[in-house]
Amino acid sequence: MRTLSKDIINKVGEKVLLKGWVDVRRDHGKLIFIDLRDRWGKVQVIFNPKDAELLKLADRLRSEWVVAIEGEVKERPKGMENSEIATGNVEIAATNLEILSEAKTPPFDISGVGFDIGEDNRLKYRYLDLRRNRLQKNMSLRADIISFMREYLRDLDFTEVETPILTKSTPEGARDYVVPSRLQPGNFYALPQSPQQYKQLLMVAGLERYFQIARCFRDEDTRGDRQPEFTQLDLEMSFVSREEIMELVEGLFAGLTEKLFPNKKILKKPFPRITYKEAMEKYGTDRPDLRENKEDPNELAFCFVIDFPMFEKKDDGTFGAVHHPFTKIRNCGEDAKEVVASLEEGPNEDMLSEQYDLVLNGNEIGGGSIREHRAEVLEKVFMALGHTKKEVQEKFGHLLEAFDYGVPPHGGIAPGIDRFVMILTGEPNIREVIAFPKTGDGRDLMMSAPSELDKKQLDELGLSIKRKKK
Ligand code: AMO
Repeated sequence: MRTLSKDIINKVGEKVLLKGWVDVRRDHGKLIFIDLRDRWGKVQVIFNPKDAELLKLADRLRSEWVVAIEGEVKERPKGMENSEIATGNVEIAATNLEILSEAKTPPFDISGVGFDIGEDNRLKYRYLDLRRNRLQKNMSLRADIISFMREYLRDLDFTEVETPILTKSTPEGARDYVVPSRLQPGNFYALPQSPQQYKQLLMVAGLERYFQIARCFRDEDTRGDRQPEFTQLDLEMSFVSREEIMELVEGLFAGLTEKLFPNKKILKKPFPRITYKEAMEKYGTDRPDLRENKEDPNELAFCFVIDFPMFEKKDDGTFGAVHHPFTKIRNCGEDAKEVVASLEEGPNEDMLSEQYDLVLNGNEIGGGSIREHRAEVLEKVFMALGHTKKEVQEKFGHLLEAFDYGVPPHGGIAPGIDRFVMILTGEPNIREVIAFPKTGDGRDLMMSAPSELDKKQLDELGLSIKRKKK
């Protein structure tokens, strides 16, 4: 049976079988040393010249070859210990070597942090880039964070639900990625910018507490903290207040940080609640950086920004929703008739909403709101945003109809997981915490996506391509 590198320190005197990659090979006179690497670390292996045949085979080994090695775990001679690796007090005296796979010389060095290597090359050979220690750690930490989130919410009786990827457009402020339908030629699915409508429909369905580690797709220009495809911890609750959601999120993020990042210090608990107005006046941004010492990588200043405007005027003079149209208006009265009357007068920038953003060290890491659950008000919000009654029916009729069948008041939030992991690991770019990210212009260099379709596929989909004249 295979022994993992991390377990050999307790096996001095025993025979073990190790499997992994040759990290480096060093020749010392007649002896050959290799560092064998597996996911858990490295271990030194010695090939002794007494076994000439074994030594000859070991002489062929090169970095990144995949091997199985049998040998005896021995304490290293005094003075030969290596305090830099966890297995530095022991070594393996090899008795057998099997080469499982040979390897070409990698196109770049994978032993360092990798920041000096061209991004294109790193992404093209991502499976090699991911071998580097820094990225292995990021992947593992990301998995720990997601496990914590799952456990935390399961303990509070949330139900994890998967919602469709092939769906209909939901406005989150970006362009949709679309997928042509073969069975309904000329029709398209949209990939979800978020599961917003589904999670609200799950509240109508009586699930009451929903979450999902949800993949979202937004066709927008990428930046250091943005990817076209990213992951949210999406959640929604029925019969809940704004404060209750913020308390839940605070408990989750504080608990997570304290457990997984004990060296980090949360500056203030409860997380400060700052109004949008105050944030803009005092800090000139709706995602203020409240750290006392911005040079300190261990300081975490969380806060919630509340009381956002509901609408914002766009360059063309029309209004858009600051969060999304499903958000409840805060300051136009409690009675549906009053809100409808205000909306009929036209949207304005003084209308505040029940939106809240979670901000960490100057980054928006989550956004959510209490929703407008009254169909007649929601319809007016869509119309205030410039949709005709007919368009509202076409685009959102399913949601409005659902709200006619007994909808609980509800609200939720969606922290962005990639962005949070990026901040906690201190990485300069969101790509460093995503296994297979896209380039700035939305390409997957390893898979060569996006790519052209062949004529047969286009015909099946009823599509023809109009090429731009160069
Ligand atoms: P919102 O659009 O504010 O809200 O998104 C929530 C969080 O998702 C993260 N995020 C991104 N992360 C990486 N790349 C991107 N392109 C990207 N876009 C957004 C951010 C952001 O704070 N449906 C609502 C949530 C709700 O109302 O419950 C929504 O998606 O961290």
